[in-house]
Amino acid sequence: MKQIPVILLGAGGVGQALLGQIVATRAQVAARANARFNVVTVADSQTWRWQPEGLDDATLQELVALKRSRQPIGAPRPAPVEIIVEACDAGLEGALLVDVTAAKGMEPALNAALDAGYGVVLANKKPLAGPWEGAQRFFAEPRLRHESTVGGGQPVIATLRTLLDTGDEVLRIEGQLSGTLGYICRRLDEGTRFSVALAAAKAHGYTEPDPREDLGGKDVMRKLLILGRMAGWSMEAEEIEVESLYPSALAHLDVNEFMLASLALDPSFQERASAAGAAGEVLRYVAELADGRGRVGLKAVPVESPLANLKYVSFQTGRYDDEPLIIAGKGAGVEMTAAGVLGDMIALAREM
Ligand SMILES: NC(=O)c1ccc[n+]([C@@H]2O[C@H](COP(=O)([O-])OP(=O)(O)OC[C@H]3O[C@@H](n4cnc5c(N)ncnc54)[C@H](OP(=O)(O)O)[C@@H]3O)[C@@H](O)[C@H]2O)c1
Repeated sequence: MKQIPVILLGAGGVGQALLGQIVATRAQVAARANARFNVVTVADSQTWRWQPEGLDDATLQELVALKRSRQPIGAPRPAPVEIIVEACDAGLEGALLVDVTAAKGMEPALNAALDAGYGVVLANKKPLAGPWEGAQRFFAEPRLRHESTVGGGQPVIATLRTLLDTGDEVLRIEGQLSGTLGYICRRLDEGTRFSVALAAAKAHGYTEPDPREDLGGKDVMRKLLILGRMAGWSMEAEEIEVESLYPSALAHLDVNEFMLASLALDPSFQERASAAGAAGEVLRYVAELADGRGRVGLKAVPVESPLANLKYVSFQTGRYDDEPLIIAGKGAGVEMTAAGVLGDMIALAREM
């Protein structure tokens, strides 16, 4: 059986779910892929645990328990790129680097891992959404997988990859790529005030701790950029027009002040929602890309349309021309995202 060393960066919601799934699926992965994932390191923003022979399952479960009780998982960690150097020095071959952080600056570690012949799996969108000059290698490299960067575990990337592998041409990409903004929009449909919908989304844990990270639209922009770059448009982030759902004047406030100030946004959202309603439409935060030109922002869409009713991504292509291919269904949540990461790890284990 193949023993695959795994270097796990990130032990938040997705990282913890992934560790649980690695332990729970040992028998399936052995039977279906003839492989065993040997987690040699788990690192968070400050600390790490390192065992070149592989951490046993009891230790992996202990690390999850430590993270849940907000404790360090070990000693202060070296920089991610140094972790790769350490793994190489320890003679680890055919390893997988799994980045389930939301951190900037991971590119040197990803490049070092690829240079060492390792596979890379990302839930972290940022390395794929940086300047094209540095990011293009990540799109060209078959040993780098990133299913969970778009669609929260729905097979969006795999589907796009198959379309492209088989010579189809992507003409237009459209979707609702944020569960959080989808929730807020559906509350607006019901006549709920924006500030109330936002507070409810925050209370349910649907938003980032600072909801402006969702409302600013950058996360959706990164997802659209990743799809567009895969489809062959070598575009930069700045080329996608982004409508933020809060004005820049509210950017400097702390989170509590911002939540209070969001009341001032209610009238304009109410006005837009009512105008849409009068025309038989609803507001949705939509991502659209065609001819290398992209936009993410609020849009009034017909009540009966897929955009109004589904969390989905659609591809209009040379083959799917008059009837676009739609991938829809539940997306996001840490377990589904982790399953997307695990699926990429298994695919690489089979291939490498
Ligand atoms: N949650 C979802 O449903 C979902 C869906 C799709 C995609 N994603 C993506 O998946 C990634 C992880 O999401 P999450 O919800 O698990 O985030 P999270 O709970 O904030 O966890 C992030 C983890 O990364 C660690 N970290 C930060 N900087 C690091 C560094 N330089 N080196 C190593 N570890 C570092 C953090 O350490 P500390 O614990 O010390 O803070 C934390 O353990 C994000 O990129 C997110 O966009 C998430």
